[in-house]
Amino acid sequence: GKKKVVVIKGDGIGKEVMDAALSVLSILDLNIKFIEAYAGYECFKKYGDTLPDESLKKAKKSDAILFGAVTTVPGQKSAIITLRKELDLFANVRPVKCYPGIECIRKDIDLTIVRENTECLYSGIERYTDEGAEAVRVITRKACERICEFAFKIANEKVTAVHKANVLKKTDGLFREVFYEVAEGYPEIEAEDVYVDAMALYLITKPQDFDVLVTTNLYGDILSDEAAGLVGGLGLAPSANIGEKNSLFEPVHGSAPDIAGKGIANPTAMILSSVMMLRHLGFEREGDLVENALIEVLREGKVTPDLGGNLKTMEMAEEIKKKIMEL
Ligand code: NAI
Ligand code: MG
Repeated sequence: GKKKVVVIKGDGIGKEVMDAALSVLSILDLNIKFIEAYAGYECFKKYGDTLPDESLKKAKKSDAILFGAVTTVPGQKSAIITLRKELDLFANVRPVKCYPGIECIRKDIDLTIVRENTECLYSGIERYTDEGAEAVRVITRKACERICEFAFKIANEKVTAVHKANVLKKTDGLFREVFYEVAEGYPEIEAEDVYVDAMALYLITKPQDFDVLVTTNLYGDILSDEAAGLVGGLGLAPSANIGEKNSLFEPVHGSAPDIAGKGIANPTAMILSSVMMLRHLGFEREGDLVENALIEVLREGKVTPDLGGNLKTMEMAEEIKKKIMEL
């Protein structure tokens, strides 16, 4: 039947890049029903809540969520973190790929970072002590198993576990142990492990050597921002948050108040996030079509100011639509 996609535009350029992405999707013949829901700062001003129950309910009942970006409201719950938690979106997936026409440190980068999204140092267990403060790092066997399974399922050649088990013998030790247990179920995929500090270096010195990286929450957070920097930065970085039932697709960037309202935000990250959603929902052909059209537009330099072009957000979307018609 028809797939239900909940659209949360959010604030600032979140709305602008979402309109661009929806405009591109609108010319495909998709069996999708789009349902709008509200979250973020403007939503808070209007409804007194950064993520109203109604939005959460819609999200829970959806096949996928497309999320733009929200402005953080101090002292209020974060819409995106609440969604990740409530929907148990345990895998944060960030493809890192060099597109034509984009300045990258190497042309042949094509890797994916799979970050565990629910525990580690982000469990929120922190306290003050007499001497200062401390945080608890929670690593469970179950979370390690499902994130490693996920990584092997999407890998083509190799999965690299990133950890620091030489120092964190119990927590990262468990992660590495479970990683190799899971690897036994995938004999056709190479399995290796690398220390996180070395990985920070290898991302710069030999990023072409990697296929899928799998890691715990904090390391994944840091490495994925580093990796985005290797292939053109925030305007180009898409992501997916995948759970057993729900999934959410969003650009890595935020609401960018410094350029919001000018219509010049780069829609690429949002459009690539939509491509990930299309593939996740089984619209493989349509996903390829949009990505290939985008590649042509990038190659021709028909891009927004952050990439050195002079197109507006919607003009870039129009160029992509023209290419889709030609392909
Ligand atoms: P940001 O990602 O919004 O912007 C950082 C810099 O990158 C800015 O100079 C911005 O103009 C530029 N930039 C970002 N996306 C761009 C695009 N598509 N095209 C062209 N330039 C782009 O991060 P910042 O400024 O730290 O945060 C702004 C707000 O967004 C804050 O309230 C923050 O909490 C929130 N935020 C929300 C996220 C989300 O909704 N998932 C993620 C990150 C930040
Ligand atoms: Mg981050």
